[in-house]
Amino acid sequence: MNLFKTTLFFSLSCLVNQAFAQDAMVEHGNEVYLHWCAPCHDDGPRRAGTLALQFVYKGERPAVLDERTDLLPEYTKLIVRNGISIMPPFRKTEINDEELDALAAYLARNNN
Ligand code: HEC
Repeated sequence: MNLFKTTLFFSLSCLVNQAFAQDAMVEHGNEVYLHWCAPCHDDGPRRAGTLALQFVYKGERPAVLDERTDLLPEYTKLIVRNGISIMPPFRKTEINDEELDALAAYLARNNN
């Protein structure tokens, strides 16, 4: 019984730790987003990314990137490293792999 309790406690604390780690990652991703992506993808006038996505999706999906709920981390990473249309690719010296993981987790935080 004691072993059961210990195991249960250990499992629960691992889950809680994981949740905190995930929160910290998403928060870090938000900072990366605000620095590198918001200038084009935020709400407001003259944002090239928001304007383009408004045109592409015509209201079917949110035009503001961080309101999306369908951005898979792999897709975000692919676009960020390769660019698309007038969006430039970002080098590892600008956004390193750890920052890109956090950014992709931030953009996927509300995924269903
Ligand atoms: C210079 C402006 C600019 C910057 C900076 C920029 N983007 Fe973009 N992004 C665009 C444009 C414009 C498009 C739409 C391209 C198209 O399909 O015509 C786009 C498209 C995307 C898409 C594809 C969305 C879809 O529905 O397929 C993703 C994902 C994306 N950007 C992520 C990012 C992330 C993450 C950052 C920050 C690292 C970023 N972008 C920075 C301009 C920008």
